[in-house]
Amino acid sequence: MLRLGEVKMGISKFYDWKDDYKVGIDSIDQQHMKLFLMVKELDGYIEAGETHLVMKTFLIELIKYTMRHFADEEKYMQEIGVPKHSFEEHTAEHKDLVKQLKEFVGEFETQHKIFTPKLIQFLVGWLKNHIVRTDKKIIQFVK
Ligand SMILES: [Fe+2]
Repeated sequence: MLRLGEVKMGISKFYDWKDDYKVGIDSIDQQHMKLFLMVKELDGYIEAGETHLVMKTFLIELIKYTMRHFADEEKYMQEIGVPKHSFEEHTAEHKDLVKQLKEFVGEFETQHKIFTPKLIQFLVGWLKNHIVRTDKKIIQFVK
């Protein structure tokens, strides 16, 4: 199990959190950091050759946390009055990721698909892209 303190040690990897990803809203940044930590933890399980059950269970936890984070972020956007068009574009990206993650779990369940570093690359790529291109726009609506 990875602990928060360990992240700051050693050479930075592609899945490590970077301060460049900060959107400037503390509650959102904290949850994004936790998401990166969870992805790193999953990567550790893949590297260690953990059982399918351990990885599937953790992936489900990751999906649950992601959904909770999206719900919090969307609530925040509504509270600060993000315009409808921006809000809908943003939430469409959230919905798309949740759909893809649920499909992944389905594949792991029914086809006994194996966990590979490709999943980690996908998750990190999605997070970085979404945070930098979409989440960073939220701050412009904070008065
Ligand atoms: Fe978002």
